[in-house]
Amino acid sequence: MSKNIKKIGVLTSGGDSPGMNAAIRSVVRTCAYHNVECVGIYRGYQGIIEGDFKPMDARSVKGIINKGGTVLKSARSKDFMTKEGRKLAHEKLIEAGIQGLVLIGGDGTFTGGMVFSKEFGFPVMGIPGTIDNDIYGTTHTLGFDTALNTVVDCIDKIRDTASSHNRLFFVEVMGRDVGHIALNAGVGAGAEEILIPEEDLGLERLLESLKRSKQSGKSSSIVVVAEGDKIGKNVFELKDYVDANMSEYEVRVSVLGHMQRGGSPSCFDRVLASRMGVKAVESLLEGKTNYMVGLINDEMALTPIDKAVKGKSKINKELLRVSDIMTT
Ligand code: F6P
Repeated sequence: MSKNIKKIGVLTSGGDSPGMNAAIRSVVRTCAYHNVECVGIYRGYQGIIEGDFKPMDARSVKGIINKGGTVLKSARSKDFMTKEGRKLAHEKLIEAGIQGLVLIGGDGTFTGGMVFSKEFGFPVMGIPGTIDNDIYGTTHTLGFDTALNTVVDCIDKIRDTASSHNRLFFVEVMGRDVGHIALNAGVGAGAEEILIPEEDLGLERLLESLKRSKQSGKSSSIVVVAEGDKIGKNVFELKDYVDANMSEYEVRVSVLGHMQRGGSPSCFDRVLASRMGVKAVESLLEGKTNYMVGLINDEMALTPIDKAVKGKSKINKELLRVSDIMTT
């Protein structure tokens, strides 16, 4: 392994996700393993501009593999969006002797890193960290699996009260513009219907489906709604619509919100984070730049960061069919 790079910086940016700390730990320890210095950068790109750096050795990341959030903090930096801000950031990195960056975040993080890398020829490597799983070039982003487990756990609990009162619940889940969380958690929790942006069920068919399930003997129902769903009504309007058109159910709404981003990472996310951190650092040391590390066919794979940003992550359509069959 060529080791022209002697000092690597690591940062987390954008929305935090469970597994980010495990990835930081992996980056720091891989650097230590290869006798490369590692510097933690606080509050994402804003921390570079402000020189908010802290040297990290192998022991400095003890006890964080199981922690949610990010010990390096996260921020969305407006200054880094300007040329002057990025110039300042470059000066700070040079001043600190940092020769490569590992960027843990989502597409906003990668877009910033890509522009910066092109402007200054600075080596960067991305690790996808977001609960939304909306990044091309990996079947799983860090935090997605944990968020799914959180959502399924919440829906299981909501089902207890739904079935005790014969109620219909609309449960809104996160995911920004994509339906990965809704679709996977919906199947995992046995939802009657799953509304996602990738498939427009339509209000009429939603009503028909709910009526059918009532007629088939179901006394309560859970409908999982992705926050980016395109049915044309938000969850509260959906409740009003069903209230007005179906007397069979008493309807309630539950918006799960930011609890989906928190909590201790699942074993899957910890293992994935550990693998991604090793791959990211070793790729930088091999002289590679402008890639994102991802999981494809259970192997670590590199995707050019511009492709990761521009490409579309696709939902698994088979799951839609499975969900239909399961709600027979
Ligand atoms: O990208 C992660 C995410 O939690 C999305 O699911 C959600 O749409 C968004 O971030 C919420 O952002 P904020 O925390 O800024 O409200």
